[in-house]
Amino acid sequence: MIITIDGPAGAGKSTVAKRLAKQLTSVLFQPFEYLDTGSMYRAAALLGLRNGVDWNEPAQLETLAQTAKIEIDAGRTFLNGEDITDAVRTKEVTGKIRYAADNPVIRRQMVELQRAVAKRYAEEGKGLVSEGRDQGTVVFPDTPFKFFVSASPEERARRRLGEMAQRGETGDFDEVLKSINERDYRDSVREVAPLREPKDARRIITDGMTIDEAVETIVQSVSMTLTLRQSVSR
Ligand code: C5P
Repeated sequence: MIITIDGPAGAGKSTVAKRLAKQLTSVLFQPFEYLDTGSMYRAAALLGLRNGVDWNEPAQLETLAQTAKIEIDAGRTFLNGEDITDAVRTKEVTGKIRYAADNPVIRRQMVELQRAVAKRYAEEGKGLVSEGRDQGTVVFPDTPFKFFVSASPEERARRRLGEMAQRGETGDFDEVLKSINERDYRDSVREVAPLREPKDARRIITDGMTIDEAVETIVQSVSMTLTLRQSVSR
């Protein structure tokens, strides 16, 4: 069983998706894993930074990404054996992410990897909460459990500043808002797999909502869909 959570940067998707996986594990009596697909594109950008690629030569990043080992385990992302889950959340990586996210060769590689992770978890009897921009539209279009989690750009900027403060970083509201708007724009105009709300997704706008309320809304929606499907198949 695959649940997709798509939406723009800073909408609270990761926190919601992580808690959702935990919550579903107890509610549905089946272990659920969480997949942060943004960290995979971030891993490719980190590779480029570490190896000093020429960003105007996409083939350089493609070759690096294809020879690297990007692995996912228990909600963590590994690059050639190194846990890079936290290391990829820097401004430097975010600043170069578009070179990975806009590259069709790298996207194809990541989509394959994401489907392989889902297959492995299914074989292990586990469900998956997969979070990103294209999970419901491109990667897992057949799942009946799709959610689009969003919030206003201002709310997202406030949250991002809060996260930064927790890490001891400081930031300027207008600058963070500008970077969110720019990333939204880039994510929506990208030629391959742009950020789109899946037609059949349930939309959750998290302005003024706590994380727990958002998670609860999704859990209820998933339970209702499951009940409906079970009664139809009987
Ligand atoms: O979710 P996160 O902010 O870590 O994602 C980083 C970037 O990776 C996004 O801005 C987006 O450009 C890209 N991304 C993507 N497709 C995904 C997940 C992330 O293009 N499925």
